[in-house]
Order: sequence, then C-alpha cells, then structure tokens
Amino acid sequence: MRAAGIPTAEFGVFRDPGEAKCFVRARGGAWAVKADGLAAGKGVVLCPDPAHAEAAIAEVMERRAFGPAGEVCVVEEFLEGEEASLLAFVDGERAFLLPAAQDHKAVGEGDTGPNTGGMGAYSPAPVLTPALEETAMETVILPAVRAMAERGRRYQGILYAGLMVQGEDLKALEFNCRFGDPECQPLLMRMEEDLLPYLMGCATGNLGARPPRFDGNAAVCVVMAAGGYPGAYRKGDRIHGLDEAAAIEGVKVFHAGTALDKDGHPVTAGGRVLGVAARGEIIKQAIGRAYAACGRIHWEGAYYRLDIGAKALRRTGGRM
Ligand code: GLY
Repeated sequence: MRAAGIPTAEFGVFRDPGEAKCFVRARGGAWAVKADGLAAGKGVVLCPDPAHAEAAIAEVMERRAFGPAGEVCVVEEFLEGEEASLLAFVDGERAFLLPAAQDHKAVGEGDTGPNTGGMGAYSPAPVLTPALEETAMETVILPAVRAMAERGRRYQGILYAGLMVQGEDLKALEFNCRFGDPECQPLLMRMEEDLLPYLMGCATGNLGARPPRFDGNAAVCVVMAAGGYPGAYRKGDRIHGLDEAAAIEGVKVFHAGTALDKDGHPVTAGGRVLGVAARGEIIKQAIGRAYAACGRIHWEGAYYRLDIGAKALRRTGGRM
C-alpha cells in the first residue's frame, strides 16, 4: 500500500518482538497489533496505549497466541471511524465495484469483545456515500490493481478492500483476495444477474464493458454462532427450525459450520454455524425479517448479536 500510494495507517512490520515494542513505546498512542499470517479473522488486538500494545506483541510473537501466524507482526496506528467493506470484480486491469457492505467483526453488541470472522453484515452501507465510494475506487482499488499489474502479478478475481471511514476521510485497512463472509451473502442476494459471467470475466481477463446490476433494496445477514465462539465451543448440537426460518418472505439461510449427523439431521460443526440472511425494501425490513428467522432457529447455546444493522438505522433514521 505504501509503495502504491494507497492511504493507510502508519505501521511497522517486525520479526523481533523487542523492536516492535520499542516502536510503539517511542511513538505512544493507540495501536492495532496484527499477526501477519492467517488467523481466521481473529489475529488483531486493539490496544488503547503502548503498554497494552507491548502485552499484545508478547502474546502474538512470544507466546504465539495465533500459532505460526505470529512469526511476523504488523503494528499499526489505531484508526478511529467506521469500517466498511468494498469489493470489486477485477480482470487484471478493470474493476467493477459491488455495492458497499458493512461487517460486524466483534463478537458482542456495540462492537465489544474479541474479534471474530464476522458476526453479521448488511448492504448498502450508508457510511460509504457515493462520493466516498468513488474516492475508494480511485485511491484504493485501482491503485492496487495497477500496482499488481506493474509487478507482473495481474490480479484477477474478487478484490476485497477493508476500509476505515471517518467523515470524508478514508483509509485502507486490509485487502482480501476473496468475497467477505458474511458480506458475500447480502451482496449476492442483491445481485440481479448471474454471477458466473463475471467470475469468468475475471478468470479470463476480460470483464467486458457492462458492470453488474444490483437492486436498490437492502439485505442483511445475521450470523448464528456456537456458544463460546470465538473461544472454545461445542460441536454436534442438533439445529432445529431451519425450514420454519426459510419460510419467511425474503429469507435465505446459508450453512457455514454445519454437518449432518448419522440420522441425517443438521448439527453444529463450527464456530459460525449459519448466516441467516434476508432482503427487504429498506434495511429496517431486512433486519426485521432476518431476526424473525433467527428467532425460529435454535440449538443449545446458539448465540447471535442483536444489533446487526443498527448503525445503518442510526445513520439513515430507518428511511433506507
Ligand atoms: N467478514 C470479513 C472477512 O471476510 O474478512
């Protein structure tokens, strides 16, 4: 990002925990300490001051809380604001944006508690205004695509930019080379045409001239998780009410950590068990439907946040 001139937080990359600790101590302020490797979306510790950051560096690098992912650690200036996810189909040169979405990464209501892979998402995300979306395209997505091509590594596929938005200011937090989960569910529920030609366009390096069409409605996905997630959780609990939930208008239940037991009955088999998604004319309706569906599904210890979409409602006064 630095090389491509993409706006992002101040950061350092370290193999030596002592150097990482000196870096935060010398600068002061709040930090995000990130395990550099893959950690199922959980490898980020937010630290209000250098003392917490030093403790987090020790956790990640010395005690290897996230395993080998903590061999290298990225220490990043803590950015204030609201996160949004902006995804694009990319064919190596061109990019077609999908509508903005917003994830809820923390396990608890009001964005409290440890980070997870994502506890719920909605689209559109009113925090990313059309003007900011254009800025993100010009300053984040296209520079990344060009930088990859210039290095002889044309990027073809879904490019996911995690953004931090504060007022009119926007910075890139991360890139993923995949759809987001659970952002994908509401986004694809809003897509008005077949996905395959766009994936083929990415794969063959020719997206064509026409961007994909998305409806003007809203969609929400509430993640139902096993009790204890993102810490230790049980598996093998029978899931009830799936058909009753799917019968609600606009609702689709996506399976994630599920399996069938020996009698062919769905059981829990992972931390994030189901993505309960719903469409609506406005976000308020989509939220109502998704939660009505969650209310029909149960297993022992099932957990879900009750405030998915609340930020969008606050921002729009429930009008969008
Ligand atoms: N929901 C965040 C991600 O897929 O990375």
